[in-house]
Amino acid sequence: MKILKAKDYSDLSRKAANLISAQILMKPHCVLGLATGSTPIGTYKQLVDAYNQGDLDFSEVTTVNLDEYKGLPKENDQSYYYFMNDHLFSKVNIDKSRTFLPDGTEEDSDKACRQYNDIIHSLGGVDLQLLGLGHNGHIGFNEPGTAFEKETHCVTLSERTIKANMRFFVSENDVPRQAYTMGIKTIMSAHKIVVVVSGADKADIVKEAFFGPVTPQVPASILQLHNDVTVVADEAALSKCTELI
Ligand code: GLP
Repeated sequence: MKILKAKDYSDLSRKAANLISAQILMKPHCVLGLATGSTPIGTYKQLVDAYNQGDLDFSEVTTVNLDEYKGLPKENDQSYYYFMNDHLFSKVNIDKSRTFLPDGTEEDSDKACRQYNDIIHSLGGVDLQLLGLGHNGHIGFNEPGTAFEKETHCVTLSERTIKANMRFFVSENDVPRQAYTMGIKTIMSAHKIVVVVSGADKADIVKEAFFGPVTPQVPASILQLHNDVTVVADEAALSKCTELI
């Protein structure tokens, strides 16, 4: 596991975007695994800037997102599709028919998850997977206690995740209680993984996830066993592991 120390959030965003740009330049028809949450927003902005400057071409790129709320259609401004479209897809020359997220409107969870697994398998897997990190160590929506061997599955969100994500909704009651997410097995199958983490409020979980024991209680800890993970974190997020890096 490589730790890239960034000075602050904008430095972190630039470093993460550079890793993704390098992937696209090396393999223009790559499959990118993408993430939502507030942390990757700066990374997407950097990618859009690079595209606008003529340095990046998304025309052959395919994307698969980590997760989607169950029950939210694409048009809902809190859906992850809406987020991706707003921050990236509508701003670059990506072919929208090659941007995939789990289908939040599919009520049959087994069907939604099976379809999404089939899409990922038919693409031949993910070249580079971008991840954020939840305060409880979740990646995608894989909450503490999730079995490591799962592929795409339906999850019931923890109270902590509902509270953390409430800031994007009008009220806590509006936050969906369930979501479809790539499983840990799917995430671990990516050739390359880039994790972005920012802020002092993530310092404890950074130490626990990347320097503590590997346990399903801290889903991100499994990343210690992947052979190509780069954690791009700012000084605040790394403040509790200065003696370890
Ligand atoms: C949500 C997403 C995760 C994301 C996490 C952290 O729960 N499902 O994929 O990593 O939020 O978000 P943030 O970057 O806003 O802290």
